[in-house]
Amino acid sequence: QQGPAFDVNAMTLTRWVLAQQRTAPSATGDLTQLLNSIQTAVKAIQSAVRKAGIAKLHGISGDTNVQGEEVKKLDVLSNDLFINMLKSSFTTCMLVSEENPKVIEVETERRGKYIVCFDPLDGSSNIDCLVSVGSIFAIYRKDSSTEPSVSDALRPGRELVAAGYALYGSATMMVLALGAGRGVHGFMYDPSIGEFILTDPLMRVPDKGNIYSINEGYAAEWEEGLAKYVEEKKRPSKGKAYGARYVGSMVADVHRTIKYGGIFMYPATKSAPNGKLRLLYECVPMAFIVREAGGRASDGRRDILDIQPTDIHQRSPCFLGSKLDMEELLSHLN
Ligand code: AHM
Ligand code: MG
Repeated sequence: QQGPAFDVNAMTLTRWVLAQQRTAPSATGDLTQLLNSIQTAVKAIQSAVRKAGIAKLHGISGDTNVQGEEVKKLDVLSNDLFINMLKSSFTTCMLVSEENPKVIEVETERRGKYIVCFDPLDGSSNIDCLVSVGSIFAIYRKDSSTEPSVSDALRPGRELVAAGYALYGSATMMVLALGAGRGVHGFMYDPSIGEFILTDPLMRVPDKGNIYSINEGYAAEWEEGLAKYVEEKKRPSKGKAYGARYVGSMVADVHRTIKYGGIFMYPATKSAPNGKLRLLYECVPMAFIVREAGGRASDGRRDILDIQPTDIHQRSPCFLGSKLDMEELLSHLN
């Protein structure tokens, strides 16, 4: 008996990126190479997140490492993978990582024209209990031929060349937005062939959802308008109440918001007046992707993509999701 036919012509991520490159006549192939290096990092991270090889590391019967060495923490390993893969792609000149206090300059002989800001493994509080985590990245082009400096990374989100994330959930998925107006596309990892396959072309955020996502533990520190908005989601004057979902991993919460619609919020609080999420490698790439998928993203006052950053690790309140849900929220904030 034969099983289902094997797809002998699958649209892999590599193939798709190559095809995109062919549509831009002036493209050099550098971005393709860069995205391939990120793809390699993501494959290795997903394997580590899923504990492949754990028996070898910990000894098949117990919890001792056979080599007697300390096992590298997942977030450190993910950061090393991103940095090494990006540097060796010969396409980047400067990197900004959540894990590194300062920008990472690429050695002159390995330099290329791109700047990448990334969070190699977001959702650190979820790592040890095996709840979904993710990687997020934003890519900019350095236009001048001057020595790279911090100011090259301090760019408003509007100037992004590409943004993406990887979600290590019940399956692994990579989601990519390759520039304004080119849509958002999702690729599911198939471990049997070690490739990402295009499964979600042209993802769209529904115009309205029925889920709100926020850490309600901090409700006492919210501004009044926000408290009122959430209250209305729970006790609407008409219609059904919204469901509440909050993973506490931005990638998982945003991915759900794109797929099902609704709203994700990480607001300012009294004790954290700029919220928690980082602008360069959390808010901006996610805002870019959500916008490209037809949703909205704001810091409560401005479109996130319009913010001119002043510090590579600066924080920003972050609200994003379905167009109509966002309009309703913003009408409550002042
Ligand atoms: P991290 O970079 O230390 O992992 O923090 C970022 C994460 C996001 O993924 C998530 O949206 C947020 O922190 C949750 O924070 P909180 O626990 O305050 O709700
Ligand atoms: Mg993070």
